[in-house]
Amino acid sequence: MPNADQVILSELLAREPNWVSGAALASRLGVSRVAIWQHMEKLRAAGFTFEAQRARGYRLKLRPSFLHAALVEAHLKVRPRHFTLHVLDVVDSTNDEAARQLAAGRPTPFAVLARKQTRGRGRFGRAWHSESSLNLYSSFAFRPRVSPERMQTFTLWMGVNLCEMLANFTGVAPGIKWPNDLLFKGRKAGGMLTEARVDSDQIRDLVFGLGLNVNSPRDEWPSDLARRAISLAEITGQPLDLNRLAAALIGRVLLAWQAFAEGDHLERFADLWHRYDLLRGKPIVLLEGGRRHHGVVSGLDDEGALLLRDASGRSHRFRAGEVTLEKSA
Ligand code: BTN
Repeated sequence: MPNADQVILSELLAREPNWVSGAALASRLGVSRVAIWQHMEKLRAAGFTFEAQRARGYRLKLRPSFLHAALVEAHLKVRPRHFTLHVLDVVDSTNDEAARQLAAGRPTPFAVLARKQTRGRGRFGRAWHSESSLNLYSSFAFRPRVSPERMQTFTLWMGVNLCEMLANFTGVAPGIKWPNDLLFKGRKAGGMLTEARVDSDQIRDLVFGLGLNVNSPRDEWPSDLARRAISLAEITGQPLDLNRLAAALIGRVLLAWQAFAEGDHLERFADLWHRYDLLRGKPIVLLEGGRRHHGVVSGLDDEGALLLRDASGRSHRFRAGEVTLEKSA
């Protein structure tokens, strides 16, 4: 059930740049016009600016640049019946919060978004820089009942879906660097972290985490990241609407999840992987368990492992590892 703030914002967004009368909002919600005015005051306090005229009603002028739960919800185009969204001001890690909520029995699917993380995590236990409320920190929780071997393909499938969503949203195509990096112009704009609790032979529950550099300015990065990271705003040359992007992200992740759960995604996966994969045919170094493997990437196997052809023509498969492009690539 949408709450009053969501209904008001949905109406204002749908009518933009036109006005919406207080009476129309009041009758839509079954409350008095005074109650509508009180809601508008609350939204103003949360960072919205409205134009208000006695004869015409309200019109949206400015919206918050940081995440706002009702605004994300108002932007959602489709909403699966059981989906719920939590937007937190600050949390240790959205992945950890989603795992805690799963353990407490919260129905899936749900998403946890936060304006900041105090202990954002990346792969290999690395820290994920999470101090800017201009970026997105998000986790999605599912109970998939599939075998653990399908987890890698799950992350890759999500990755190519996000590439397509970001290409549509920004007008610039990103690429995916196996297994979890989203890159624009060779620099990292997003990272994915999928974590699961596994019963004997099935996944009990799964958290898909995505960190996306959206609007943070270059000088906010710590110096070691500045060379490797890029934000979407840098790519497009202008700030993006964070709440609209969050809604597009949620919509796409839920659609992709549905296709994955139904198992009818394989053809589309091959097509999207072909379009967004950054590594095929490239000479790389893969670091795995302290060893460096050199070779040319020849593709993926059915479980999403990377296939690497070495100098003698032998093929090797890797389920995990960190990839660097060879200098000549
Ligand atoms: C990586 O590139 O190593 C993966 C980074 C994943 C970061 C995201 S931010 C939201 C979610 N919460 C976390 O603690 N990590 C993921």
